[in-house]
Amino acid sequence: MDRYVICGGERLSGQVKISGAKNAVLPILAGTLMTKNAVLKNVPNLSDVAYTVEILENLGMNITRENDKMNIINSGIVNTVLPTELCSKMRSSILFMGGMLASAGEVTIPYPGGCSLGNRPIDIHLKAVEKMGVEIAESSNGIYCKVRSLQGTKIKLPFPSVGATENIMLAGVLAKGETTISNCAIEPEIVDLAKFLNSIGAKISGAGTDTIVIKGVNELGGCCHRVIPDRIEAGTFMIAVAGAGGNVKIQDVIPEQLRPVISKLKEADVEVKEDENSVTVCSDGFIANTDIKTMPYPGFPTDMQAQFMGLMCGGLGTGIINETVFENRFMQVPEFIKMGADITIEGRCAVVKGVEKMKGAKVRATDLRAGAGLVITGLRAEGVTEITDIHYIDRGYENFDGKLRGIGADIIRINEQAVQ
Ligand code: EPZ
Repeated sequence: MDRYVICGGERLSGQVKISGAKNAVLPILAGTLMTKNAVLKNVPNLSDVAYTVEILENLGMNITRENDKMNIINSGIVNTVLPTELCSKMRSSILFMGGMLASAGEVTIPYPGGCSLGNRPIDIHLKAVEKMGVEIAESSNGIYCKVRSLQGTKIKLPFPSVGATENIMLAGVLAKGETTISNCAIEPEIVDLAKFLNSIGAKISGAGTDTIVIKGVNELGGCCHRVIPDRIEAGTFMIAVAGAGGNVKIQDVIPEQLRPVISKLKEADVEVKEDENSVTVCSDGFIANTDIKTMPYPGFPTDMQAQFMGLMCGGLGTGIINETVFENRFMQVPEFIKMGADITIEGRCAVVKGVEKMKGAKVRATDLRAGAGLVITGLRAEGVTEITDIHYIDRGYENFDGKLRGIGADIIRINEQAVQ
């Protein structure tokens, strides 16, 4: 298993380019199940994307990639049972449900394994597709879903679930009649998925608002679509600069989508300058701790919580983090405490008392964003920090250590096999 070794204390400077958004490209790839041919640009090089491509190829798709450009040819679905091994490696295999039901009329999805963010239920997804006429049965190798023809209907979500909104959009595109999703997610990744689906002939309106309407069509064509930049990767680099200190221009971003992180960093006395498609962060490395409450977009993103916690560990004063989206997203706390952090958890809140100096230590990534938070803390900690289980980080960050070295961080990736 690979690990990162970081020597803290280096200030960051220069510029870094943000890659395409993981949480946009994954549902869009699921949507290619309904096309004959699609070309995607700005596709990030991530392990979750690689697993998704393997699953699509297992289902019969032909996919080639050249740098950040991906060409997908769908000559027909040959298999409707998702491979368990591959699905267990990524949390979002449920996203194949809508596209498979729309294109093949059936799918068997392995039971979603728990992960460190809680048990990741899929009840909202299943209730929604049942309303569209899908029959669901539990089988030995997963959840079996079958439908003769998807029926448009009105669905009100109990919670603006990102994945459930995406699955219903995918299922509604070829359904008979009109599907309305109310109380749906309004994340930028939802808007990008709708843009991709409309470019292949879908009739979706309202994406980005709390009510989406999908008019079912009979067939779809092909398209060329550029994936939006990853607002979570961008926010992660912004917080890294805030903590380590320095002056870095973060390029290929959509500042409007970074608003919640920008305002929190400004509250913490960090300077952020916005241009049309970049933000520049300037920091002396000292930040004033503030409170954060994670909320669905446009609130503070839950996917930025661990990174901001990593910043607050060495900030001035005390801040309270209220994690309202996931039931168990503080798995990173014991690892921060190994580095000298003063954090107490009270239910879904974490009270972070900033300490003078965080110390380098041997820690492990417990999930994708927790790993990024530990890197952020290691960049500013005294001494050397070693982070193991960085395969989690590879799920959502393309060339993370390379991009950080490019702006002056002292971080290397050690490949365990090479060392033995
Ligand atoms: C998406 O996950 C993202 N993943 C997550 O990013 C992100 O944290 C999350 O949205 C919230 O923004 C992808 O897009 C691939 P949800 P998703 O359905 O769709 C509960 C990352 O770090 N819920 O909005 O799984 C659920 O347990 C990842 O990039 C149900 O109870 O999120 C959670 O508490 C992590 N029943 C809450 O809703 C359901 O059927 C939010 O989940 C579905 C969800």
